[in-house]
Amino acid sequence: SHYNDCSICMYVFLYLPSIYDWPGYSLDLFTYPEHYHDDIENIYIPHGVIMNRTERLAHYIMDDFRDDNIMVLCVLKGGYKFCADLVEFIKILGRNSNKYLETRVEFIRLKSYLNDQSTEDLHIIGCQDLSFLRGKSVLIVEAIVDTGKTMKALLKHVETFEPKMVKVAGLLVKRLPNMAESLTDYVGFEIPNRFVVGYALDYNEYFRDLNHICVLSRTGKMKYKI
Ligand code: HPA
Ligand code: MG
Repeated sequence: SHYNDCSICMYVFLYLPSIYDWPGYSLDLFTYPEHYHDDIENIYIPHGVIMNRTERLAHYIMDDFRDDNIMVLCVLKGGYKFCADLVEFIKILGRNSNKYLETRVEFIRLKSYLNDQSTEDLHIIGCQDLSFLRGKSVLIVEAIVDTGKTMKALLKHVETFEPKMVKVAGLLVKRLPNMAESLTDYVGFEIPNRFVVGYALDYNEYFRDLNHICVLSRTGKMKYKI
């Protein structure tokens, strides 16, 4: 697991304890869509930082998959940006090191959230038949792993198709009392249990068009509530 090496350097910035809680960057420091001005508290992880960390994860993944082709299973909708950027970095690194790994990307859609609350029911929408995973080295790419319920259910489902191996890349893992850290092999950032949006993460389908990862404000929460 590449969890520990990043939790040390990220500790100061993105780790929970309340007094050291990373407050995020002021909105004045970066650019973002004007229409979200009142809807976000702060810029929690700027887009450039996300990109650089994603490049680093691509290195780890290349090392682990070695000569195996990668069957990427992108969890929609939230995972689409992370997945696209991660696969792009894997291709660039391959090109620069003459070690091309073939990547094939398939999509799966899950839904377990209503407003900012996790619900009990997990739905796998679309692409239930994953028999193309049989014997393959699979990389599940998910934007955020919080309770771990979704990921556990998905892993169980994927295993029934008997892949050769399964790894999980999660851009964000929320720090919760009984957190699901062991489910995620490649962790981008560990963050406190706050509702974040942007970089394809949504709140009732809003904020996917924001490039940074931001903390939703009270105003934003009210404005886009269903
Ligand atoms: N933001 C957006 N979607 C999510 C989150 C979050 O913090 N947690 C689980 N799904
Ligand atoms: Mg969502």
